Amino acid sequence: MNELAIICADDDPTVLSSLEMEIKNLVGNDYLIELAENGEDALEIYEELSEEGNEIVLFISDYLMPNMKGDELLKQIQERSPKTLKIMLTGQADLKAVGNAIKSANLFRYIAKPWQPEDFRLTLISALNSYHQDKELANFYADLEKKIEKRTQELQTKNQALIKLNQEKNEFLGIAAHDLKNPLSAIQGWAEMIIEDYDDIPKAEIIDVNRLILNSSRQMFELIKNLLDVNAIESGQINAELSCVDILPTVQTLVDSYSERAKTKNISLQLHRQNNPYYALVDKSALQQILDNLISNAVKYSPYAKHVNIRMRQFEKTVTCEIQDEGQGLSESDKKKLFGKFTRLTPKPTGKEHSTGLGLFIVKKLVEAMNGNVWCESELGKGTSFFVEFPAFLL
Ligand SMILES: Nc1ncnc2c1ncn2[C@@H]1O[C@H](COP(=O)(O)OP(=O)(O)OP(=O)(O)O)[C@@H](O)[C@H]1O
Ligand SMILES: [Mg+2]
Repeated sequence: MNELAIICADDDPTVLSSLEMEIKNLVGNDYLIELAENGEDALEIYEELSEEGNEIVLFISDYLMPNMKGDELLKQIQERSPKTLKIMLTGQADLKAVGNAIKSANLFRYIAKPWQPEDFRLTLISALNSYHQDKELANFYADLEKKIEKRTQELQTKNQALIKLNQEKNEFLGIAAHDLKNPLSAIQGWAEMIIEDYDDIPKAEIIDVNRLILNSSRQMFELIKNLLDVNAIESGQINAELSCVDILPTVQTLVDSYSERAKTKNISLQLHRQNNPYYALVDKSALQQILDNLISNAVKYSPYAKHVNIRMRQFEKTVTCEIQDEGQGLSESDKKKLFGKFTRLTPKPTGKEHSTGLGLFIVKKLVEAMNGNVWCESELGKGTSFFVEFPAFLL
């Protein structure tokens, strides 16, 4: 039902009807007005109205009634419904009863009988206003509390994310520092050796040592370049400038360059392609970086005398490049970690190549920035295929 209700209890029927009339004059049909001639009936009416889902706004009770007095009745109502406002009518100035009711029933007002209609009217208006203001305030606070709870939760989530990011950054810094320390201390050692033994070292050996220094500095340079890329990615600074590019020349150049380098491992690279361009919507320098890592990985993690196949495929909406090797392949658990940061997994470089474990992380972020896709299919002992797919540009 959900109506607003006022209950009046008085053992005098004339008082009851005059209460009803005066209340009705003020509130019209906005409230249900229920009358009871004693405390028990009043409690019963209260229970019924509440069970039906009505909201009992005001309870007016006479003090002097047989069996149950007004202060006791209002106390019981207070126990059931603290929000309901209570007014007591007192025939004679019974201050003790009023005091009781104020304490135990949180009495809103008392009205001395006989009352002046205007006094009654003003008391009623003030009671109803007070009830609705309290209700609005309660709703407002409930709403506020919900908002505060939601914001607190949001802040906690953000805080946790920040803590995680900070931990990651520390970890990142630790690994980076460690990876830089090794080549740097090697360079230092070789430089010291040249200074100390310059007169005794044959020229050819100095050149060899310098080669080692060069190699170590390249490693450090590569790591720093990757670290800067990761930093740019994580601070949201990937600026992929997409344009229509035939990706074939980039693949071809990389295949030629890695074929040369792979000769030392007796690994051959073969490009499978149709006789047509493969236009895609990509950023040319990011494309080069992506394919470079995937092809370099295939060579880096393949044992000697294996083959690497690079297959170009043109679909209706995409252009795909598959880089397939005959290396040791990846386990299921390695596959899950593949595109993370600093992931040096079970397969190790087969020709002492350097590995920072950042390549595939960068590849994935760059591919995503170009609305492409990269994934891996691999079977332990058989080899690995990396697929990279870009949106095709149809002329
Ligand atoms: N084709 C592959 N076959 C087998 N394992 C691979 C292959 N490609 C990558 N991996 C494994 O995944 C790891 C991560 O590769 P990723 O390219 O991210 O880093 P990396 O090659 O070690 O270093 P770099 O940052 O120089 O690329 C490698 O260390 C290797 O264990
Ligand atoms: Mg790599």
